[in-house]
Amino acid sequence: MQIAQRLNTITEPQTIKMAKLSRELKAKGINVIDLSLGEPDFRTPEHINEAAIKAINDGFTKYTPVAGIADLLEAISIKLKRDNNLDYSKEEIIVSTGAKQSLANAILSIVDPGDEVIIPTPYWVTYSSLVLFAGGIPKFIPCGVKDDFKLTPELLEQNITSKSKLFIFSSPCNPTGSVYSKKELEGLVSVFKRYPQIVIISDEIYEYINFIGHHESIAQFTELRDRVVVINGMSKGFAMTGWRLGYMAAPKVLVQACEKLQAQFTSGANSITQKASITALLSSLDATKKMTEAFKERRDFIIGALKKMPGVITNMPGGAFYAFPEISSFYGKSDGTTTITNDEEFSMYLLNKANVATVCGCAFGASGCIRISYAASLDQLKLAMERMGAALSELK
Ligand SMILES: Cc1ncc(COP(=O)(O)O)c(C=O)c1O
Repeated sequence: MQIAQRLNTITEPQTIKMAKLSRELKAKGINVIDLSLGEPDFRTPEHINEAAIKAINDGFTKYTPVAGIADLLEAISIKLKRDNNLDYSKEEIIVSTGAKQSLANAILSIVDPGDEVIIPTPYWVTYSSLVLFAGGIPKFIPCGVKDDFKLTPELLEQNITSKSKLFIFSSPCNPTGSVYSKKELEGLVSVFKRYPQIVIISDEIYEYINFIGHHESIAQFTELRDRVVVINGMSKGFAMTGWRLGYMAAPKVLVQACEKLQAQFTSGANSITQKASITALLSSLDATKKMTEAFKERRDFIIGALKKMPGVITNMPGGAFYAFPEISSFYGKSDGTTTITNDEEFSMYLLNKANVATVCGCAFGASGCIRISYAASLDQLKLAMERMGAALSELK
């Protein structure tokens, strides 16, 4: 069978590839510690599970409106006001099968072939795949560890052209954990104000996993109100990755376009998940706060351990659950059998030598680094760091 050419722009994410490799090693009986995946290791809180069970028992198992049930749109509107002081009506919100689908809807609805899309790197790999799928041209702006991997207003402005249509970023960021402050966002906004043709997608899926205080959304700057697209969802903050619910808050014209697309692609999100999400969003956030405290403890441990490893340079992630150390000082070094020449080989060395699965930075547009997910127990993380330290000390 001949597969359509449009699929050629899509490659298998390195994250999935690494998870596959570590599963294969595990199947051979090797005790691999898998730090490659972006998934909270906690159970979904019970009150959310109970709401889903009630929805099933109540027979709430039929098609729903494409954009989502009214009560959920209302709950999201309340959440955006309560947590972010943002005013979005129900007509300016649409729910989808995960934030990934919200992003796909938005990018396919905004980007025409030939449009340039500015993406600061390191970035979440799906952004560039979706842009390419839409026929757009990703314009990557490298941001380094010394700037906490954040984009400066100067760099942003230097990379804007007459073809720039869209800007995509995440804060807290996957893969770097960097969190933009209000002041840093203000700097970017001052540039965007001069380029009214640029739409901004702000991926805030890690909003609640924030260790440095209040989450700041770029949507709070009213000057940009008619061209900011807020993406969020249930996966990370509520440990609901498998439930598949994401949402978008944006100008009505974009919400309507996404609804049109979604009506043909999926008919909308799962009915049971929608009911459970209302409970999640409107109940106490205690369970979310507890998970965030656990992530913070792990962040402190893992960054402390990485800083003790000679040759490893790291930022201090302010959120999400990833460390993104720079490891290029190991290039050219060997344990006598394997010589490391790039980040992919470094990651494979850790997998084979230390049995610790990570993801190479090149998967996020940032060669020279690796991503370590700390969505694993402290005991597992301690063992992983011991093994990693020992494997690195053999590289001469
Ligand atoms: C930055 C970022 N955005 C969006 C998503 C997608 O989340 P969802 O599970 O809601 O599709 C992820 C998941 O890894 C992510 O890391």
